[in-house]
Amino acid sequence: MNKGFDENWLEQLKAKNDIITVMSHYFSLQQKGKNYWACCPFHHEKTPSFCVNGYEQFYHCFGCKEHGDVITFIQKIESCDFMSAVEILAKNANMEIPSFYMDESIKEKKKSKDTILKILDLASKHYEENLYKKTSTKAQEYIKTRGLTKKELDKFHIGYSTDWTEIVTYLKSKGFAEKDMVLAGIANQKDDRYYDTMGERLIFPIYNIHDECIGFSARSLVPTDYAKYKNSANSLVFDKSKNLYGINVVRKLKQEKNIDFIIIVEGQMDVIALNQAGFCNCVACLGTALTPLHARMLKNICNNIIVSLDGDFAGQKATIRTIDTLVEEGLNVRAIKIPNNQDPDEYIKQFGKEAYQKLLDDAVDFVEFKILNKLEQYDLNKVDEKAKFVKSAIEIVNELNTNSEKQVYLDVIKKLSGVPTDVLKRDLIDKKEEKIFRQQPVTYSEDAEVKSIKFVLASLCYKKEYANFNFDLNKYLINSSYIKLYQTLKDYNDRNEKFLISYLYNLFDVDNEPNIKDIIDYNFELIDNAKIYYDECIWKIRENYLKNLIKNLSEESMKIDDYQKRMDMLKQIGDLQKKLRNKILED
Ligand code: UTP
Ligand code: MN
Repeated sequence: MNKGFDENWLEQLKAKNDIITVMSHYFSLQQKGKNYWACCPFHHEKTPSFCVNGYEQFYHCFGCKEHGDVITFIQKIESCDFMSAVEILAKNANMEIPSFYMDESIKEKKKSKDTILKILDLASKHYEENLYKKTSTKAQEYIKTRGLTKKELDKFHIGYSTDWTEIVTYLKSKGFAEKDMVLAGIANQKDDRYYDTMGERLIFPIYNIHDECIGFSARSLVPTDYAKYKNSANSLVFDKSKNLYGINVVRKLKQEKNIDFIIIVEGQMDVIALNQAGFCNCVACLGTALTPLHARMLKNICNNIIVSLDGDFAGQKATIRTIDTLVEEGLNVRAIKIPNNQDPDEYIKQFGKEAYQKLLDDAVDFVEFKILNKLEQYDLNKVDEKAKFVKSAIEIVNELNTNSEKQVYLDVIKKLSGVPTDVLKRDLIDKKEEKIFRQQPVTYSEDAEVKSIKFVLASLCYKKEYANFNFDLNKYLINSSYIKLYQTLKDYNDRNEKFLISYLYNLFDVDNEPNIKDIIDYNFELIDNAKIYYDECIWKIRENYLKNLIKNLSEESMKIDDYQKRMDMLKQIGDLQKKLRNKILED
């Protein structure tokens, strides 16, 4: 993300703006060993976990995981974009900002992105103003019936699209082209006319974590055959699988105080109702299931999640799916079931915020939640259903890692079913053996390979003493980002130059490359014997490659009629199999 600057110039800029000196204009730092420490300026804390490395010119907060170089620091602390941060630092160092040069395609894309953001910003403000027009009675009445206060209307910038063409006319008068409105998801084209995609709807602008409007969710105000809510289509700036409604509010809250947990709800009306009731730490998906990308985004802010979807059957089913995704990404998950099939909005309206607080206080951990969820599906007064319940509950417990955890939940099942724990335990062991047996012929999953590649690349990036370039990874890497990263690391190593993690922010659009972000955020503490693991990973990568080669050659050899050619190929396969057996790294 060098945004068009010459890398050398940027390096000079950074060299002339020592990160420790720059930071000490904002707060004081304490030197301990070779690092400097402070209380993190980006999240609330009492003991310093914000670490600055003067040698690497890089900061990392072990609390909120914010990190970067002197430029990202200025962006964050001054809440400004890259360009403004560069301007501040250039002024600081008495440096002239060079004129832009940039790859044409990137330049185009950036320009288009900027235009879309400008259009969305203007449109959201315009819709918001519309809401207060005398003629907007339909929207105003609806707001009254939903009990929305001015405070929440302002906070979420709720607006109104008065008709089907007005926004297009307005944006045109501001100098924007219709085709850009289409790219922004605001207008659709029919024949040679353009109309508002959100026509005559109540508008909920969607903001990204940096508080930029990236799209809209819009509610119909009249009964309609068409969807009740309509969300902007994905665009250059909006991706449903990566964005959550309310994330900007949660992020701001986090900068003011510590957040104990984040609540996930189903709809944006729930987010707003919860805010109104004083629960501002909540987000909603935008008409999709929660994705791993959502989970990671939340994890960057807070590790504890309470899932609070609708209490109806669909909501409960979605809760289980949401839980699994969150647990998979390593979050601590609790869940609640709202009584009477209600959603948080309805529940708070009927019973008050204290009642909802009580539900939060009583939230159960995800394993217990899943067991209780099963319980609801069976009538325990019937013997056969009780047996089925116990069986499915044990399956849930079976997924747990440690025996002590399992014991805790077997007690729960015992309490619910009356079946003694030692009997349940026997079932558990049987299950486990069956599972191991079933999984015996371990085939190589891509996941295992990706995991290995990430660890090896992270080790090389962080210059772990066990990491080296003896084994050339180049041909084994499976995507272009990994290849680019590896090649860069290798170049630096060949030239005997120091590679700094902060360079990754110049090389990649890190926010949009989760694979690279994983490498930057790599948690080495989770790895037990890193040196041995490193060698294992190298072999895993090689092994996967050999297996694939063998598979492809075998398939090919079946198709070949020529005897001699076929024998040659079989010999080749034999050689590869020998390498596989003897764990030979060289070709
Ligand atoms: P709900 O229908 O539960 O939302 O849909 P809600 O907040 O309770 O709606 P009202 O306003 O109180 O009646 C939950 C979410 O699913 C998505 C929206 O993001 C919504 O907030 N959704 C729902 C759609 O995308 N399209 C739809 O037609 C309905
Ligand atoms: Mn609702």
